[in-house]
Amino acid sequence: MNMPKTSSNDYDDSVGEVSDNQSFEVLEQLAEHWELRAGVKKKELNPEITFDAHAPDFLPELLPFHNHDLFLSADSQAKSKALSCGWVAYNEKTIDIESYIVSPSCLDILYGRLPQTQNSIIKWTASETLTDEAYHVLLVTNTCRITRQRRGLETLKLPTFDLVRFMQREMAMVDEEWKKRLINLATATVSEVFVSDYLSLIADAEHIQPINRLTTDVHRKDEMAHSSIFKHLMKVIYPYLTQKEQDYLAEILPKPVSWFASQELDVWESMLSQIRFPNYQEMIADCRSEHIVNLGRIDYSGLTTLADELGILRSQRGQDSFGEAGLQ
Ligand SMILES: [Fe+2]
Ligand SMILES: [Fe+2]
Repeated sequence: MNMPKTSSNDYDDSVGEVSDNQSFEVLEQLAEHWELRAGVKKKELNPEITFDAHAPDFLPELLPFHNHDLFLSADSQAKSKALSCGWVAYNEKTIDIESYIVSPSCLDILYGRLPQTQNSIIKWTASETLTDEAYHVLLVTNTCRITRQRRGLETLKLPTFDLVRFMQREMAMVDEEWKKRLINLATATVSEVFVSDYLSLIADAEHIQPINRLTTDVHRKDEMAHSSIFKHLMKVIYPYLTQKEQDYLAEILPKPVSWFASQELDVWESMLSQIRFPNYQEMIADCRSEHIVNLGRIDYSGLTTLADELGILRSQRGQDSFGEAGLQ
């Protein structure tokens, strides 16, 4: 009987041919090039020098209520404060992605809690990714601190983001540790597939706070450089999961797409309340009544391509789960 594996000790990495898996070569090259390209070594970024008090901190079109009459008719000071909140939330969501989603999966790999992760190249890559993400936490923490200080938002508190909350809720619904690890791996993979586009929204923006654009651009370059790591890790790990684990991953993999796409209206409601934005309750209530996760704005082809390459989309379960998530 094919029993589910429940701990790293159950995985025997000596079983099966891995030497001809091209993903190992790609991962090794990525690991070798890290020293040349890693943002963590760069020291020239100085947030204090380039902060422009007159520049908007964020893009209005990224606010879920940017077309609402109550936002459009608000005074410029209130709008400017809302934009600063948008920047803080954008950064703190980035910190959550790094800390609650990507880093724990890297640790699962580093500690060999997923199949094939006893391999030294895999551990090397995971360690470098952890370092990249730790540096990004530093970058966005620094820029967020500057914004909070300059804009009088030092005491602004944000509730948990939907992306993390939904992942943790999914984990809480299962007892088995291997399922929790696969939920985390799926969420990390989806986040890594989408985070470069998420960062590009600001990195490519003109007429925005220069330090915000610069910080996001540095982060984006790192993400683009290591964006294929989780896809290749998945290709290394997936073939060595049991049938039961593969079925579960096929079921769970598309779910984080809608979690990632959340407009985070609870976070917005809390922030607008704290800055006393006029009539914020009505704005948020209207957003909630219209709220549909708009996958049309997201290019999810990277994820469907990965699912196809893994063979997930050839299974009935994979076709069903991707169909139900609106990704087929
Ligand atoms: Fe990152
Ligand atoms: Fe990343």
